[in-house]
Amino acid sequence: MNILQVNSSARTDDSQSTALANALVERIRNDHPEATLTLRDLSRVPHPQLDEVALQALFTPADKRTPEQAARVALDDVLIAEIKAADVVVLGVPMYNFGVSAQLKNWIDAISRAQATFRYTAEGPEGLLKGKKVYVALTRGGKYRNTPADTQVPYLQTIFSFLGMTDVHYVYAEGLAMGPEAAQNAMTSARTQIEELVVAPVAMAA
Ligand SMILES: Cc1cc2nc3c(=O)[nH]c(=O)nc-3n(C[C@H](O)[C@H](O)[C@H](O)COP(=O)(O)O)c2cc1C
Repeated sequence: MNILQVNSSARTDDSQSTALANALVERIRNDHPEATLTLRDLSRVPHPQLDEVALQALFTPADKRTPEQAARVALDDVLIAEIKAADVVVLGVPMYNFGVSAQLKNWIDAISRAQATFRYTAEGPEGLLKGKKVYVALTRGGKYRNTPADTQVPYLQTIFSFLGMTDVHYVYAEGLAMGPEAAQNAMTSARTQIEELVVAPVAMAA
């Protein structure tokens, strides 16, 4: 079983979402000690954004790309290979300005590629990243669960489902900026949510 851990905080150290992503991986490995772990730490190695240079590289046929364009596409290829190989995906996801971090958005832009991770058929879009379990550790300064201000969960639900990942579980740590006691309670509650996860075996990666 392959686990892919994606840290998407801007913080390299003392990240609350990374701490919970680590706890999720530990929890999963308790039940699956044989599992291998690939760590994609976007705080230490931020992925480049999808700018015009990247788009031009992606839309140039492989045999016509310049070495620079080939190198840019290769950066995305690595992330696509990682998620394709994963049976379980664990994400640490902080809320920044009511959305996901730029780091996470860049990762999502990189892995969302037609014919590689989704395709369109006569019946509509089909996600190609099937048979994976996804665990998301959400950390927030305020409390927005199940409110219209929580754009993160509907967004993640939509993009993961579009890519074929429908078995998605969320762990919440909210109120982290509401005083030390609230913060401690939120992290304790999140760790309890993690302990209570039922980690069922997963199908092999598609
Ligand atoms: C730049 C920035 C923007 C933030 N925006 C929000 C926000 O919109 N809503 C919220 O509830 N918390 C917000 N927070 C608080 C973070 O969500 C919270 O500190 C979270 O635990 C950070 O996770 P991390 O330690 O993994 O980076 C923000 C924090 C930072 C640094």
